[in-house]
Amino acid sequence: MPSLAIAILAAGQSKRMHSRRSKLLHTLAGRPLVTYPLRLAEALQPAHLVVILGHLAEEVQAVLGTGCSYIIQRPQLGTGHAVQQVQPHLEGKCDELLVLYGDTPLLRLETLQEMACRHRESGAVVTLLSAILPDPTSYGRVVRDAAWRVRAIVEEVDATPVEQAIAEISSGIFLFQAGWLWEHLPHIPRSAKGEYYLTDLIGMAVAEGATILAHPATDPDEVLGVNDRTQLAQAEAALRRRMTRQLMLSGVTVLDPATTYVDDSVEVGPDTVIHPNTHLCGQTRIGEECEIGPNSIVVDTVVGNRCHVFASVLEEAVLEDEVSIGPFGHLRKGAHLARGVHMGNFGEVKNSYLGPGVKMGHFSYIGDAEVGAETNIGAGTITCNLDTKGRKNRTRIGKQAYIGSDTMLVAPVEVGDGAVTGAGAVVTRSIPPGSVAYGVPARVRGMAEPKEAKSQKDRRDPE
Ligand code: UD1
Ligand code: CA
Repeated sequence: MPSLAIAILAAGQSKRMHSRRSKLLHTLAGRPLVTYPLRLAEALQPAHLVVILGHLAEEVQAVLGTGCSYIIQRPQLGTGHAVQQVQPHLEGKCDELLVLYGDTPLLRLETLQEMACRHRESGAVVTLLSAILPDPTSYGRVVRDAAWRVRAIVEEVDATPVEQAIAEISSGIFLFQAGWLWEHLPHIPRSAKGEYYLTDLIGMAVAEGATILAHPATDPDEVLGVNDRTQLAQAEAALRRRMTRQLMLSGVTVLDPATTYVDDSVEVGPDTVIHPNTHLCGQTRIGEECEIGPNSIVVDTVVGNRCHVFASVLEEAVLEDEVSIGPFGHLRKGAHLARGVHMGNFGEVKNSYLGPGVKMGHFSYIGDAEVGAETNIGAGTITCNLDTKGRKNRTRIGKQAYIGSDTMLVAPVEVGDGAVTGAGAVVTRSIPPGSVAYGVPARVRGMAEPKEAKSQKDRRDPE
């Protein structure tokens, strides 16, 4: 195998974005644009990987981290000039140089691998990735002769009307024989705009009769370059189509792909149904046979099997199997709902463990708490976790306890196993296991009746 180096061009000014931030840091399906070519490059395991930075270099570098090396291009005089910057670093160190663009996020690994195979078989000095687009506007066009050989790449601004009608475009992705590249790179002519176009190397290869290959990508979405926000939205839609398609082919039902937003880092198990207007983001993992949505946002959350999430927002939470939430539930960081928990409308849980079978039907806030198995949390129960000094205090509720509607648990406080609080109790002191407490502040009245003896109507809590 020839030794491969990859250069990712990410120095350009991105004027067409009209943004204070670098274009390459605008997010696509939840992560910065520039991370797409970076991951792709890493997957090819090159001997050398360099990123060319210039405009807002520090900002971009901070996102890319330390897994690659950086070269600064200042001033930025075009794509050819950008590649010229790598020559002193890579000349003599690789057999091939692959040029990727920071603004071309939808490229697939398989396509690059096919392109590399054809490049090596053909002995071409340069292979470019092309595509046939229904609307080629703004891209460089691939000009071929009658024998279908590539003759030139003509930029939109320089193209004649006949050339503008050509549907085959250049993606800007090139694979070069390194020796040929280093020999010709310094001789790219300066354009009328004072720039050096990488595409001019094609004309140079043609002039000397060298073999040039244009390898068309099978999926035109792959070559989409994001120059402005309309193309960003186009890329987002294309990526979304790709993600929902993959999910459907793996056994997930997606009722309305057009309103289902799934990051490429998300996993969903078979026989799960995703309802419209659902967003699955970040490091989210969803098990099998779940119903998710409609109208739900799930971020960095692990959901077990056979769970129901209905019109709710889940962030950095864990749901074991058979949990049901919603409508209008909100799980925040550190919420852990064990098997079979039911959380009804207008509930919020943060940094808390709800044990197996806990029921929390209506209007409650549980923060910094542990709740034992099969405890019932009455409507409107609040853990008052924040004290006047700004400290967060913990609440511990045992198993099979019964927290009456509108109970205020003023933390730090403990409610023992099987204990009962009356409706509207303000609990400022711990309640021993099995006892009943009521009032403001709640006082212990005596021992609770055994659970079986309590009738539903005594409870006075809506279910
Ligand atoms: C470029 C190609 C065009 C192709 C299109 C595909 C040239 C002259 N044109 O046009 O043929 O159809 O991509 O999307 O190559 N960059 C630098 N330094 C620079 C200039 C650019 O690193 O001095 C980087 C940019 O950050 C960007 C990439 O190179 O990631 C492409 O630059 P851009 O200005 O977007 O080129 P296009 O006009 O899209
Ligand atoms: Ca571009």
